[in-house]
Amino acid sequence: MDLHHIIYVSKAVHITTADLDDIVNAAHNFNTKNNITGMLLYIDGKFFQVIEGNKEDINNLYAKIRTDPRHKNITTVSAHPIKFRTFKGWNMRYKAITEKEFSELSGINVFTSLFSLKPGPKENVAFNFARKFSRKSFPSPTWWDDRMSA
Ligand SMILES: Cc1cc2nc3c(=O)[nH]c(=O)nc-3n(C[C@H](O)[C@H](O)[C@H](O)COP(=O)(O)O)c2cc1C
Repeated sequence: MDLHHIIYVSKAVHITTADLDDIVNAAHNFNTKNNITGMLLYIDGKFFQVIEGNKEDINNLYAKIRTDPRHKNITTVSAHPIKFRTFKGWNMRYKAITEKEFSELSGINVFTSLFSLKPGPKENVAFNFARKFSRKSFPSPTWWDDRMSA
């Protein structure tokens, strides 16, 4: 398998709880069927997502996600080949958090700095942050929205 990952950030557009439910359910169903793994954070009106899987599959998915009117300012932070999956078995885990929680967890103090991340040396900041979550103990074993099992 030609494994790749994509990390991006975006800004939600007039989003409701029902929209978030719809996104999470669609992601869970589609990603499970297509062996796409990763995580999605909703941070006070902004999204941070990691998707990983077969290159063609995630490029197609990303193309679809990019045209979704429920968000804008979609900024690719990282997109490249990976040797192994960081989020094996996570057919999209999801959690809504506040900017304050995000800053505390990520060590990325000014939230807007995340939006200035572009592919390049800084992409490691985002990936290393995302990778912390793949350890069940971070932030705690029961932290994620429990609609999806690991
Ligand atoms: C921030 C965000 C993240 C999303 N992540 C996924 C995802 O991981 N997998 C997925 O299938 N759809 C995801 N979606 C939803 C897709 O954009 C799309 O609405 C969904 O796949 C249904 O597409 P369809 O109606 O063309 O089948 C996401 C949407 C948003 C706004």
